[in-house]
Amino acid sequence: MCFLHSTVPVVDNRNSNVALQDTDEIFQLPLGVPLIDTPNGRVLYITRHGESMYNLENRIGGNPSLSNRGQQYAQKLGQYVNKNLKFDKVWTSELSRTLETSAHIKDIEKKRIMKPELNEIMSGIFDDLSYEEFKDQSPIEYKERELNKLTYRYPEGESYLDVCSRIEPVMSEMDTGENLLVICHQAVIRCILARLQRTPAIEIPYIKVPLHSLLKITYLNGQNTVEVIPLNVACVSTYRPKTDPTLLSGLGDSKLELKALTKVSSELKKTSLESPKINTNKLKADEREH
Ligand code: F6P
Repeated sequence: MCFLHSTVPVVDNRNSNVALQDTDEIFQLPLGVPLIDTPNGRVLYITRHGESMYNLENRIGGNPSLSNRGQQYAQKLGQYVNKNLKFDKVWTSELSRTLETSAHIKDIEKKRIMKPELNEIMSGIFDDLSYEEFKDQSPIEYKERELNKLTYRYPEGESYLDVCSRIEPVMSEMDTGENLLVICHQAVIRCILARLQRTPAIEIPYIKVPLHSLLKITYLNGQNTVEVIPLNVACVSTYRPKTDPTLLSGLGDSKLELKALTKVSSELKKTSLESPKINTNKLKADEREH
């Protein structure tokens, strides 16, 4: 196995002023616990697809192809992987943009495994809309999502919490220690990183996952370190910071905040009951060691 050593910045998504103790208690452990069998030195590479036509238009979901710059990223990724890394398996979602991004990796047809669990968050009835169109067509839904991005479930679609549960089966497979490159999507990678880095749940929808960068994730002595390796192909930023609630006050129903907050609280309770089972004895032992 030949991994390139690079002096790239380490991302630490855990620094934040958010202080929702209840939420952390409920989510941090189930989502953050490294799996018991994770071997020391296990390295995963994860990347988003190259810039898509929808990224250029600020659109959500759908099944767009790559932009010209996205195709350049696919070529650069292929060159980088073929020269520096060796993977037996490359996981992609089922969507065109991740398949196109994998296209230049040597022997990709033999290595590629498509996983529906890695598809982007389902935006249901708002699929294919731009954020502006979403806001104009359904200001109340838009506002509800902006206020509660973690628990908001798109009508006929998913919430971040749904995505976190949906990826659980592949998380276990990811930790087996095999060389692996994963090519998927912004929301899904946020959930994966949160799981690997013990990020408080409330911060998941705001984790920064830039386009056109490889994330190298190394598990050592009980924790995962994430390094960002930019491949230097220009692209848009799709990052959306947390909206100041006062800026949303003109949108929709004024009673919405209360309704939305009540919903978060009941969703959190419900989800805690449905959280994946963890071995708490092992967890306590791990906590003592670190
Ligand atoms: O904008 C790109 C994208 O992958 C969309 O397809 C998806 O809906 C979105 O990111 C998820 O990010 P956010 O939760 O910040 O809207």
